[in-house]
Amino acid sequence: MAESPIDLYDTRTVGVTGDYSKTAGSSVVVITSGLPRKPGMTRDDLIETNAGIVKSVTEQVVAQSPDAIIIIVSNPLDVMTYQAHISSKFPRTRVMGMAGILDTARYRAFLAEELNVSPKDIQAVLMGGHGDTMVPLPRYTTVAGIPVTELIDADKLDAIIERTKFGGGELVKLMGTSAWYAPGSAAAQMVEAIVRDQKRVFPVCIKLEGEYGISDCYLGVPVVLGKNGVEKVIELKLTEEEMVSLRTSRDHVIEVMNVLDKLSQ
Ligand code: LMR
Repeated sequence: MAESPIDLYDTRTVGVTGDYSKTAGSSVVVITSGLPRKPGMTRDDLIETNAGIVKSVTEQVVAQSPDAIIIIVSNPLDVMTYQAHISSKFPRTRVMGMAGILDTARYRAFLAEELNVSPKDIQAVLMGGHGDTMVPLPRYTTVAGIPVTELIDADKLDAIIERTKFGGGELVKLMGTSAWYAPGSAAAQMVEAIVRDQKRVFPVCIKLEGEYGISDCYLGVPVVLGKNGVEKVIELKLTEEEMVSLRTSRDHVIEVMNVLDKLSQ
């Protein structure tokens, strides 16, 4: 149990290991279980180990909290969201993955640094899988409403987009393991949006059922998050070039989903 008389919050934290009964009746469950990656590994390299872990954790969570909303943080993110979705048998609106907020945060941080402005004023949309094929959308990136393309040269923007795509890997190289603070913070934002029914608009990984012309694939897209989980998937009008990037991302995620299907046979 942890409270903070100094910082003046009174949230109670209960820590247990392996006893899922203590989580019974949870409204929101964040699953971070699984191995992090080491330098030189891709997120996809974790699939074999993490699939079994996420499956077992999800099944135990569902047994205790049949009405919960599940947020996946484990990697490979999109495919672990798939794993949790099939293991939980929940509607898609209650099983989602956290990656878009994290990737967008990196993108916004790099832009803020380059432009010497506060990241608070940078709004951006980033879609697709949580990997090298993610799709930042400069057309929907603004600095206090000003299109970013008016403030930065195309080659600098391209370099920032490339750095964003490999942002997770950059940290793994520096720290010898995966990031944890920013992913935790991003997941907390999603929990807050759900618990307080804030109707926040975030990029979140969810099973697509025809949106963007894509079905049966788990990808990051902008959604409205509220007390019911994903309350709406927002469909942006993408250019042909943006759609090509999104389809490339889809193809990659489907490849890894197929690996999971084979593992489960
Ligand atoms: C991240 O993007 O920080 C996480 O997916 C962890 C990782 O290994 O990259």
